[in-house]
Amino acid sequence: MSSFATAAELAAHLESEIVAGRRAPGDRLEPVRTAAGNLDLAPNTVASAYRTLAERGLVIGRGRNGTFVADRRPSFTVEPVIGEDTIDFATGNPDPALLPDLAAAIGKMHLPTTLYGDAPVLSDFEAAVRAHLIDPVGEMAVVSGALDGIERVLSAHLRPGDRVGIENPGWPAMADLVRAMLLRPVPIAIDAHGVRPDALAAVVGRLDAVVLTSRVQNPTGACITADRARELAAVIERHPDLLTIEDDHAGSISGVDVRPIGPGRDRWAVASSMSKALGPDLRIAALFGDRATIDRLRARQAVGPGWVSHLLQRLAATLLETSGADLERATLMYAERRTRFVAELAAAGVIVEAPSGLNVWVPVPDPAATVAGCIDAGYAIRSGDAFVMDDTRAVRVTTSRMTGPQAADVAQVVAASISPGRTHTRSG
Ligand SMILES: Cc1ncc(COP(=O)(O)O)c(C=O)c1O
Repeated sequence: MSSFATAAELAAHLESEIVAGRRAPGDRLEPVRTAAGNLDLAPNTVASAYRTLAERGLVIGRGRNGTFVADRRPSFTVEPVIGEDTIDFATGNPDPALLPDLAAAIGKMHLPTTLYGDAPVLSDFEAAVRAHLIDPVGEMAVVSGALDGIERVLSAHLRPGDRVGIENPGWPAMADLVRAMLLRPVPIAIDAHGVRPDALAAVVGRLDAVVLTSRVQNPTGACITADRARELAAVIERHPDLLTIEDDHAGSISGVDVRPIGPGRDRWAVASSMSKALGPDLRIAALFGDRATIDRLRARQAVGPGWVSHLLQRLAATLLETSGADLERATLMYAERRTRFVAELAAAGVIVEAPSGLNVWVPVPDPAATVAGCIDAGYAIRSGDAFVMDDTRAVRVTTSRMTGPQAADVAQVVAASISPGRTHTRSG
């Protein structure tokens, strides 16, 4: 007789084993039917327990290969170790040489004193964002980066156990955040134009919120076109309670227009971050939304950090006002470096799409082998495993700083890892 009567009891037991280390990261759980037989439970009960563990990030389902104990560190923090002799094409960072000059901007800044009780949003910052970045109809708040804004919006509306649709593949930190808030991530398939309408339609009835990347989707570079925005809006039209969150984390270096679908809905937010264009260390983003969402967010912020420093808001406003030419140049350089690598891959027989941004997503049969091949050749790239919620196999290569010779070399190594018959000759 099984000592577990329900899926919840079995899930709790397995969780305690994982937490105690009796089941280590990478261990395979018994196949559903085997466990059901051993425990005298219905296969559905075991499958439901495994699903609960997967939603909580404790195990990873790899389709026919089975269900494995996850590495319990958030995947976002499991960054590749980059040795001294290894060139970093892994971390997704912008090129420091293409970020605007902070010292020059600080020199131009007028710095009046800000005191408790002053308005949290500096009007110059709001005006600069609306003039140079994005201008949706709606209220604006200032937050410490896109992820901070998204967390604040989720916590303004959702409770533990609620379901959040996120892109698959997608930015690992988003899945980590959703899980850390005890919400349940629901993967939604994407293509080169972002979330697929049919994939959203299949799950929308179960969702409390959905997070979409407007442009420069990470890892694929997908951008939501006007047609796609209309199709997605039609899918969510009959779900007025659904909270939509759009992540516009790299707007000013994307080279494409933004098409927010939230404005006009009951609950919506658009986060527009300065991290990729002006520098990740600024930790500042504009957060637009409906009145209730922004009021809740500001009220909560008021009893926490209070506001985002006016120093940062002034600096970001100055950079947005004065860096137009630099940002245009950066946009062109990122596009050139990305498309050059895509062309080198094509020349080596590997065809991929990379519509925008700093990264190229390359499907490969064995991500670990491709990563290892690159490390041997002196390049760090990222395995796609942290970006996917299914058994898709791919690697992410950051091209933001890649030179022409490096593009040719990395493309050869990646191609050789896909067709092991090929040999890679180093171009130096
Ligand atoms: C999709 C996506 N959103 C947001 C961010 C980070 O934004 P922020 O630094 O403003 O939190 C990243 C960083 O890589 C990202 O890939």
